[in-house]
Amino acid sequence: MTTTRKASVLAIPLSLLLTACGGSAPDEAATPSASPTPASAIVDPAPPAFAVCRSCHSTQPGQNGIGPTLAGIGGSKAGDVPGYAFSPALKNSGITWDRASLDTWLQGPMKMVPGTKMVLPVSDPAKRKAIIDYLETLK
Ligand code: HEC
Repeated sequence: MTTTRKASVLAIPLSLLLTACGGSAPDEAATPSASPTPASAIVDPAPPAFAVCRSCHSTQPGQNGIGPTLAGIGGSKAGDVPGYAFSPALKNSGITWDRASLDTWLQGPMKMVPGTKMVLPVSDPAKRKAIIDYLETLK
């Protein structure tokens, strides 16, 4: 069962996933021509809530900005991106980024890690979930 499902998700374009998530279009995958998905949308399906993160974070490996790249963030150790000057507070925090720690972080970085350089909280749980879902896809 699971294997079949995985295989078809890989084989079927993003339009099906969008349809499945949107819940409003009943005609499943039968409309491949309705909205041809540009390659860029497949490469980077970020939710709207992630837009604010982009002013400081890239999602490309090796591209650090005001904040470190978020490529490969899921399962990584906090403060471990090569070439980025983390605050000592985050670097020494001992955090591993899983769903729970990311959720706590996004609720209030300065509460979770006093002394961090990241100040922006995301108070809406639905936005945090959308962001974390997306972060987990970043390789
Ligand atoms: C104004 C700039 C800014 C914005 C906006 C911002 N961040 Fe950050 N972020 C930072 C900085 C700076 C750090 C490094 C903090 C430190 O070293 O203490 C950081 C660190 C992080 C880390 C830890 C990275 C690691 O490798 O340990 C995560 C995860 C993160 N940010 C996610 C987000 C997400 C998701 C958003 C959008 C909701 C966001 N950030 C918005 C500046 C920002």
